[in-house]
Amino acid sequence: MDYQLRKAEPKDVPDILRLVKELAKYEEMENQVTLTEKELLEDGFGDTPFYHCVIAEIPGDGSSDDLPVVGFAMYYFTYDPWVGKQLYLEDFYVMKQSRGLGIGSGLLRHLSDLAMKTRCTGMMFVVAENNEPSVQFYKRRGAEDLSEEEGWRLFRFDKTSLVKMATPPEE
Ligand code: COA
Repeated sequence: MDYQLRKAEPKDVPDILRLVKELAKYEEMENQVTLTEKELLEDGFGDTPFYHCVIAEIPGDGSSDDLPVVGFAMYYFTYDPWVGKQLYLEDFYVMKQSRGLGIGSGLLRHLSDLAMKTRCTGMMFVVAENNEPSVQFYKRRGAEDLSEEEGWRLFRFDKTSLVKMATPPEE
């Protein structure tokens, strides 16, 4: 199956949000997606991009110039004070009818090339415990489960906690 990978452009924002929602639905957490196209556009394509995306598309029936977008990987760079630059894979999704064709592996190859080019020492990501097919997909490619092997736990301060800790607004 032919597919093409390319860097996301502002015109891809509706497809990115569609795929973000599909992945959240797959993870049974769709109602937690509150992000809008406006925010995705500002955050990914402004002066300081907070995320990057690789888009996977497959040739359509030729009725439109735009190829159907069937998958994506959202990533950004982080820094580990022990080993340096890391690529963080935030979202990774291929639509159901296009799975098993090598697109996911192609997206990971693309990100691995990028990680080599930018001298990253690793690629981090979080997988839901009950997403066994993906856990196995990653493990078959050599991923280590750090929760199991090193006992790390994932934490978050939500907005309410941040507001409590932040400097109170002046009266
Ligand atoms: N659906 C899924 N996997 C299939 C399949 C199908 N219909 N048919 C075969 N497979 C196997 C392939 O043989 C391949 O096995 P391998 O690991 O031994 O190579 C693997 O599953 C899929 O490889 P590939 O085709 O390169 O990846 P993909 O395009 O199916 O994408 C995911 C992989 C994980 C992105 C995709 O399955 C997906 O979107 N899953 C749901 C969302 C998800 O869990 N995302 C990750 C969140 S952490």
